[in-house]
Amino acid sequence: MEQIKQVEFLISAFSRKQFPEVNLPEIAFVGRSNVGKSTLINTLLNRKKVARTSSSPGCTQSINFFLINNKFVFADLPGFGYAKVPLEVKKKWKPLVESYFHSRKNLKIVILITDIRRKIEDDEYNLLLWFDRFDFTTLLLVTKIDKLSRSRWENKKKDVQKQIHPIKLEPILFSAVTKEGRKNIWQKIQKGLTFS
Ligand code: GTP
Ligand code: MG
Repeated sequence: MEQIKQVEFLISAFSRKQFPEVNLPEIAFVGRSNVGKSTLINTLLNRKKVARTSSSPGCTQSINFFLINNKFVFADLPGFGYAKVPLEVKKKWKPLVESYFHSRKNLKIVILITDIRRKIEDDEYNLLLWFDRFDFTTLLLVTKIDKLSRSRWENKKKDVQKQIHPIKLEPILFSAVTKEGRKNIWQKIQKGLTFS
């Protein structure tokens, strides 16, 4: 597991022009609003408030870049798909995120985060399909597993695999509350950085 020695906030980017120019491998965190992207970043980094989190959706509206150990970059993306998020905010998501995926040559890993209590939605499935055309490694992380009893985790994992068929990805189970899965996701990140 990566030992976190240094976390430096780079920029909160609202447009492509503001994306930082770095020549280091990047890992992006993407998913529906309120699913727990920013919380996952904080848990991975062992920090409480590196990435801003909130119980109300639409908290992250720009792309926040963090430099880790002077070695790689984390990009916290704004969430999508939440009905209560204002239309103005929703309209900005697509162009910002599309320009991000099309311009980040250093992007090595994309982690799609989903909620264990929900089935895979069309927008999540479509993102997975779209990711296929890029060179980065895609990881599928199922978070908030503390909300479901342990006995149901394995079945839930199989359900997710069925729902994303024919895409083949092994869901990584995670909880920011119990820290379950933290080691596993770090291993997958490190593997992804080595092989891509
Ligand atoms: P946006 O920035 O709005 O897209 O949301 P986000 O995906 O960054 O979610 P965020 O990390 O702000 O978390 C949303 C809510 O979910 C917060 O109230 C978190 O405390 C809660 N949460 C995140 N991860 C977990 C988890 O593993 N278990 C539980 N029980 N709650 C979690
Ligand atoms: Mg967020």
